[in-house]
Amino acid sequence: MSTEATPGFATRAIHAGQPPDEATGAVVVPIYQTSTFAQAAVGKHRGYEYSRTGNPTRAALEQCIAALEGGKHGLAFGSGMAAEATIMQVLKPGDHTVAVDDLYGGTYRLFRRVLEPMGLSFSFVDGSDLKAVEKAVTERTRLVWLESPTNPLLKLVDIQAVSALAHARQAVVVVDNTFMSPYFQRPLSLGADIVVHSATKYLGGHSDLIGGTLVVNREDLFEQLAFLQNAIGGIPGPMDAWLVLRGLKTLAIRMREHDRNARQVSAFLVEHKKVERVFYPGLPNHPQRELAARQMSSFRPP
Ligand SMILES: Cc1ncc(COP(=O)(O)O)c(C=O)c1O
Repeated sequence: MSTEATPGFATRAIHAGQPPDEATGAVVVPIYQTSTFAQAAVGKHRGYEYSRTGNPTRAALEQCIAALEGGKHGLAFGSGMAAEATIMQVLKPGDHTVAVDDLYGGTYRLFRRVLEPMGLSFSFVDGSDLKAVEKAVTERTRLVWLESPTNPLLKLVDIQAVSALAHARQAVVVVDNTFMSPYFQRPLSLGADIVVHSATKYLGGHSDLIGGTLVVNREDLFEQLAFLQNAIGGIPGPMDAWLVLRGLKTLAIRMREHDRNARQVSAFLVEHKKVERVFYPGLPNHPQRELAARQMSSFRPP
């Protein structure tokens, strides 16, 4: 349900950050395919000066994804990995990260092969085992990196419980929400500090772009990450930002269809003679069914 003050998810996906274009009235955000913006005098501009620092098409995407995740600030990147690599730049040599053990392979590769040799350290634990997560957190832990559900075993992490535990040790909680999309799960509302997406997947939705986003509520984290986005420069071009915006307009109906299909496929597989076990949190006998119902809105769409 939505009220006038808080538009519903599908309405936010179409309109958040996308008022009609001031110059022309265009109802779809134009693709501002420009590197540089003219200034009336040195340092006197209308909010944009150079497209690595800020671009109106990208800004619309950043506001839209923030509205969908229920967060204050969004940042867009040229890929999910660029978003992840930028987050990891908040750490310093000696800092420790606890991550779930069946992470997306590219994230694992970034951690082990790029960041470990630069002096960061990592522990990989079963995120569905709260005690194991607690045990892995040390005095040097600055970050806890979660995926829920994990791929391919669809193990769930209790985001609320892990966030409480991490915050008690002043660690920042990152959730890679690619697999659920904000339609089915909003980690910031469960206590996470940073939500990251490969926009290449459900957000874009048409297999025609590579992109990444992140969303935060905390002002200090936003300042740090926005600084790093500009300093490192892993941004998307205006065309790709626009393609994600177009994809987002149908996110709600696409996710409802995915949910319907997944229920049918899992029901079919459960009955199949040759299938020994089905991993799907929507099944009544899934060991984390209660957590799934509490933290994800699939199986009961919003
Ligand atoms: C869960 C997850 N996170 C991050 C990424 C990385 O995103 P990208 O391929 O857009 O760099 C992927 C890509 O498959 C993914 O599946």
